[in-house]
Amino acid sequence: MPKLTPPLVAPSLLSADFSRAGEEAAAVEKAGADWLHLDVMDGHFVPNITFGPLMLQALRPHVKIPFDVHLMIQPVDLFLEPFVKAGANHLLVHIESGPHVYRTLQHIQALGAKPGIVLCPATPPEAISEVMGIVDIILVMTVNPGFGGQQFLPSQLEKIRKIREMIEKTGRDIRLMVDGGINHETAPLAVAAGADVIVAGTAVYGQKDYAEAIKRLKSFS
Ligand code: DX5
Ligand code: ZN
Repeated sequence: MPKLTPPLVAPSLLSADFSRAGEEAAAVEKAGADWLHLDVMDGHFVPNITFGPLMLQALRPHVKIPFDVHLMIQPVDLFLEPFVKAGANHLLVHIESGPHVYRTLQHIQALGAKPGIVLCPATPPEAISEVMGIVDIILVMTVNPGFGGQQFLPSQLEKIRKIREMIEKTGRDIRLMVDGGINHETAPLAVAAGADVIVAGTAVYGQKDYAEAIKRLKSFS
């Protein structure tokens, strides 16, 4: 395998100890995390419920790294402003979340945050062709969204490759992220396919030494 550029690492707070959320967020920042990934779930778009803007507001004083907010909620528009006000830097919305995603992405831009688009495993890469000119981030789900600790779906690697080609064609600076089942074995596969940011829940918060875990994800050793 040719030498790969180390990806940015965004630990997902979903696998942290929620009773010590502030400490857990600060701990991964100290351990070398690039972004903090925050999974917002509504029990409707996905079969699980997590937290809302109040949680971000409570966490914000504890960390400086960007809040990368993955919105698994439907409808989404009503909550964009509260999340930005609470400290979100990136707002990632699902292409499957409604018929007016373009408007949602414009709204995120107008609020001063970076808009991102997310694809579930069953969604083809072509589904996002019309939003390539507006997004700063594309997130390919490598598990079905809703829970941490699931197994990486290798079927998504071809989609990552195709989206990397689509990004190159735009000439725009778009980050390509992967989320779900990422560990030191699957990260190199995703990065070789074209991903440059990896989300990791279990592979960081499930480990004793967060710094070691992040280093391992970046170095593929
Ligand atoms: C799942 C979430 C992921 C999750 C990843 O719906 O979007 O961010 O926290 O957890 P791991 O890395 O354990 O698969
Ligand atoms: Zn996520």
